[in-house]
Amino acid sequence: MTLDVIKYAINRITDTRPDLGAPKTEEELKELVGDTIIPEGIGGEKAFRLFRDVLVKATVPIDHPRHLAFVPAAPTRAAIMFDLVTSAASIHGAFWMEGAGGIFCENEAIKWLISLTGMPEGAFGVFTSGGSAANLSAMVTAREQWRKKRDHDNDRGIVLTSSGAHSSIKAMAKVMDVEVLMVATQDLMNADLLRNRLNELDDDKRKKVFAVVATGGTTNAGIVDDLDGIADFCEENDLWFHVDAAYGGGALVADSVRPLFNGIEKADSVTIDPHKWLFSPYDCGAILYKNPAFAKEAHEQEGSYLEIIKDPGAHGFNPADYQIQLTRRLRGLPLWFSLAKHGTDKYKWAVERGISLAQLAGQLIEEHNELELVRPPSLSIVLFRRLGWSDEDYKSWTYRNHKKGIALVTPTFWKNGDSYETVVRFCFINPDTTEEDIKAILDTMA
Ligand SMILES: Cc1ncc(COP(=O)(O)O)c(C=O)c1O
Repeated sequence: MTLDVIKYAINRITDTRPDLGAPKTEEELKELVGDTIIPEGIGGEKAFRLFRDVLVKATVPIDHPRHLAFVPAAPTRAAIMFDLVTSAASIHGAFWMEGAGGIFCENEAIKWLISLTGMPEGAFGVFTSGGSAANLSAMVTAREQWRKKRDHDNDRGIVLTSSGAHSSIKAMAKVMDVEVLMVATQDLMNADLLRNRLNELDDDKRKKVFAVVATGGTTNAGIVDDLDGIADFCEENDLWFHVDAAYGGGALVADSVRPLFNGIEKADSVTIDPHKWLFSPYDCGAILYKNPAFAKEAHEQEGSYLEIIKDPGAHGFNPADYQIQLTRRLRGLPLWFSLAKHGTDKYKWAVERGISLAQLAGQLIEEHNELELVRPPSLSIVLFRRLGWSDEDYKSWTYRNHKKGIALVTPTFWKNGDSYETVVRFCFINPDTTEEDIKAILDTMA
């Protein structure tokens, strides 16, 4: 069993073009594998065979070079290898007392992320399970400060964001019982739009607004809000300034687009997901705070069994104090190892490659008679339409390509006037994607 597992892991890590698996129904899978959890066990070899020969084939390898749907991922081999090591080492990542050596590595990687943003001395952060959890911790911290400052204990707070913000903002606001007010825009959100939205509110509502969430690379279109202008707006209005750069944060390393993010250094908190565009395996998000002490006020847990970790003898940086989880995997370790192995220049190259692929796809689309760009490619995202296609045509094209193992590319909506139009969306992450891959996908749209 051990050999099977290690052999599979090595083969899979080195396979840059695995088969593009497709889902089956639960009933079909049950029919194929039978009962796997029984009192006497089915044995490691059999369980592994079922996984390797049946179950994994019903999954999509997110690092496939023609997987351009949602936000793909392309973890480095070094990061995946170290994910194995992270599991094998069995380290509790919540407290310095137990995880010092591992937390040290995570913190080195956090310092690099902070340096990409240009946030001031004292800024720091922690790795989270992903962007949703990072956004939640940022908003919880912001609300805690607002409540403390303004004596708003019983008020339901309000967050201002744009219609381009990721779905997790609304979802996490629901978890916190916070209201979200949207600034409607198909382009970037800026201070003027925010000012107009704020002015529409009556005095009572205005007092309840405690934070603005700007996006550093929208998921749908790769649009970066006017972070510099929004930073000033937040300062004028005494509002917490959060930047959700879960997808786009990787692009901070790329000189070609870095100026788009100017102003991010003034944020109170920033979300960046290394499991999106910084080539880490799932799950690895990060939340960075200008003033980590505020996050600690909001997240630190109390318990007689926890007192020892606060004792000077055990004390060090406890990641549990800055986000919602207590027990946590050292999920930043694979990023640290990969950064240490490859160096940061390699990351610069790999992110620039995603941006170039989007530009190249844009050119190929413009040269194609039946295709039309919806807007110029932004970061690594390309939106385009196939002239003459109905909503159904887009859907059946997606399923057809997936079934044939050609590609997984999914449609999205784009607001056209008052209605929503179905269009195709490419998101490039994997530097192994080639021009031939893009052409092969576009050929299926003829
Ligand atoms: C801008 C943005 N924010 C937040 C998220 C949520 O991140 P996660 O899926 O890691 O929770 C995403 C995911 O695509 C995203 O693109």
